[in-house]
Amino acid sequence: MTINVIDAMKKRRAIRQFDGRLVEEDKIRTLLETAILAPNDRMRQPWHFYIIQGAGKVNFTQLAEEYLQERFPTKPNLVQESLKVLNNTPLLIVITADQIANDADASEDNVFASCCAAHSIWLAAEELGLGCVWRTRGIALVRDARLNELLHCPPEQKVIGTLCLGYPAEQPPIPARTSYTEKVTWV
Ligand SMILES: Cc1cc2nc3c(=O)[nH]c(=O)nc-3n(C[C@H](O)[C@H](O)[C@H](O)COP(=O)(O)O)c2cc1C
Repeated sequence: MTINVIDAMKKRRAIRQFDGRLVEEDKIRTLLETAILAPNDRMRQPWHFYIIQGAGKVNFTQLAEEYLQERFPTKPNLVQESLKVLNNTPLLIVITADQIANDADASEDNVFASCCAAHSIWLAAEELGLGCVWRTRGIALVRDARLNELLHCPPEQKVIGTLCLGYPAEQPPIPARTSYTEKVTWV
């Protein structure tokens, strides 16, 4: 099998609309096997993955509704649209990074490592024919402490993202990007 990482990176898009199909368990396991290969400082392997699908989504959705209503009390349409998106997302993977007491640097490096794992899942999803988007805002619940309670997630696990996955029902165009030449200083 020829693996072309650069092609996968070029093809990868944020996919937010999914068809009704569930993601097969063997594909979920492949995503996770890929994720744990991510680089990480001193092999602390600081990640944890919470797999949320099917009946597991009920409580998540209830919390998302509470959160959105509190955050956007004057925007019922936005709340409903966001919940519709969540309803149409078959699989959520919440990713955390271990935080280490009295070691801010290592804790930060752990966030970087878990971000690498998240990106690996996103790229592997591309190869498996799945769509993915890494969310932090709104329905992702990333910055709501109640998500940790819901997942029974120990306080030292910092949530870094909620990956939304499923079979794609859209082919979004490549968002225009600023050329690297404007983002580089050759020293
Ligand atoms: C850390 C991070 C947080 C993101 N949060 C959100 C989000 O909350 N909602 C959303 O729709 N997309 C989110 N995205 C996806 C970006 O909007 C998307 O990657 C960007 O528009 C570029 O599009 P592309 O991924 O197709 O190249 C996030 C991406 C990253 C890396």
